Amino acid sequence: MLNIDLIRAQFPALLQSESGRPVVFFDNPGGTQCPRVVIEAVSHYLSADNANHGGAFATSQRSDAMLADAHVAMADFLGAASPREVAFGANMTSLTFSVSRALGRWLSPGDEILVTNLDHDANVAPWLLLAEDRGAVVRRVDIHPDDCTLDVESLSSQLSSRTRIVAVGYASNAVGTVNDVRRIVELAREAGALTFIDAVQYAPHAAIDVQALGCDFLTCSAYKFFGPHVGALYGRLELLERLTAYKVRPAGDQPPDKFETGTLNHEGIAGTRAAIEYLAGLGDEVPDGASRRARILAGMHALEEHERRLCQQLLEGLARIPGLRVWGIADPARLDERVPTVSFTMDRHSPREIAEQLARAGIFVWSGHFYALSLMTRLGLEPSGGLLRVGLAHYNTTDEVDRLLSELGRL
Ligand SMILES: Cc1ncc(COP(=O)(O)O)c(C=O)c1O
Repeated sequence: MLNIDLIRAQFPALLQSESGRPVVFFDNPGGTQCPRVVIEAVSHYLSADNANHGGAFATSQRSDAMLADAHVAMADFLGAASPREVAFGANMTSLTFSVSRALGRWLSPGDEILVTNLDHDANVAPWLLLAEDRGAVVRRVDIHPDDCTLDVESLSSQLSSRTRIVAVGYASNAVGTVNDVRRIVELAREAGALTFIDAVQYAPHAAIDVQALGCDFLTCSAYKFFGPHVGALYGRLELLERLTAYKVRPAGDQPPDKFETGTLNHEGIAGTRAAIEYLAGLGDEVPDGASRRARILAGMHALEEHERRLCQQLLEGLARIPGLRVWGIADPARLDERVPTVSFTMDRHSPREIAEQLARAGIFVWSGHFYALSLMTRLGLEPSGGLLRVGLAHYNTTDEVDRLLSELGRL
């Protein structure tokens, strides 16, 4: 069980207040706050290790050692077999454009790519543009609009021997739905297609295991899981080795270097490693000498339990507010099918108006489309300003959820 007071004491940002009241951070799907160890790791890198690669001198060697260990840490975080399967980059979007461009060399006119109506546009637009360049055909997997779950039948029926790539999210950043990625990967593999998983929204909420999923590529962003603004890519080694990366010469042509174009955000990567260590420290009952992967699994499990309780409280409270409609899975008995990213609309108030009202009360939330453009169009929500999104993280408390519910009740 998480000791919330102890956890909150590690996040300096949580001490902020507005108009005399502590700020409530429910804007987490847009980016999370950082624990002190992350802030110190960034600061330490810039103070003591700041250098470019491959030098004969101490700072460069310390910097390279940190980068090597950060790859191991990220491989542990994702359950990857080797740190060579992990590349860091500016963010998920840039990594996805880079890999999709490289994959494009394997596409021929008439080949097909599946994207979904549930995804963030960062896992849609790169594939649309690639298809345009290569004469490929894009097919769209629909959702069940009543609970915003992915229509896996629609996915399955559109797979064929022409399908080359299936691009799908692990969890929706707009409505919180968790997709059955393992099943989707299985279906794609049977059809001979590669899978590209956007795990940006899933990563802060539950453990990822790329080997168990069997996916070919997976991306995430450290700033969504308590780290700095850095993106990470997992790619199956054999594929990363075979792909031709768009990079400068003579930069390394082995993975992961070939996908890490230019000089990386070293201080951000130092902070990312610290964020993973932070998550690995959250679990209790971890045996002495447990591996970092085992500690990560224990930490994520503890965090998940806490978030589920908060999510249940939130969904039950929202159900009692007249004129409020939750979009997505609203049944508190189905918490294992969603992350605690809960979006709703209210009669008589636009999402932006609600966000402004909550901001005045010191509660920070996002409103709008959150770049889940296809979903907003599919649900017909774009013209009315999209959704109001409450995104819980493990440092949130039951008191904060109560504060939100009472502010909404007053509306
Ligand atoms: C589900 C999802 N995918 C992709 C992205 C884009 O991530 P990045 O900012 O790292 O490019 C986001 C950002 O909000 C997201 O929530």
